[in-house]
Amino acid sequence: MNIKPIKTFALLGSFAAALLIQPAAQAETPYQVDGNKVDKATFGGWKIYKRQRCETCHGPSGEGAAAFPNLLNSLKNLDKTAFTEVVLNGRNAMPAFKDNKAVADGIDGLYAFLKGRSDGAIPAGELQEMP
Ligand code: HEC
Repeated sequence: MNIKPIKTFALLGSFAAALLIQPAAQAETPYQVDGNKVDKATFGGWKIYKRQRCETCHGPSGEGAAAFPNLLNSLKNLDKTAFTEVVLNGRNAMPAFKDNKAVADGIDGLYAFLKGRSDGAIPAGELQEMP
């Protein structure tokens, strides 16, 4: 009896599974977080959120206020394309940021930061960049 081919198949199977799972997991979480430390792009997004005054309307960490949407809820429904569209082009009382270079260039990190907040993975308050 020769069991080698079966072992080989099992091995190939787990490789295939690993290959399939990895890109999907990366697509779902555009940020890396460990406590209050986040990856460079997400850290940049947090800085933009504060410096470009998203926080004056949407609250210090995205929770919103009376007349302003809670972005932690919004990001459960908005995908990155829809997020980019509303932030760059504006909508009603939401200003358009397409002429703001920091926001336009940093939109990936901004999305990653707010997605992480929305997922409950990134804490409110001060963040640090991962070494
Ligand atoms: C002057 C206040 C103000 C500022 C500054 C502001 N927003 Fe908004 N934002 C709003 C309002 C009001 C809405 C709701 C728009 C509507 O009624 O359609 C909104 C909507 C949004 C939405 C869509 C929410 C949803 O549920 O569809 C996103 C995403 C968003 N803002 C992100 C940002 C980001 C990121 C920044 C900073 C770059 C920012 N906003 C700055 C007022 C503001």
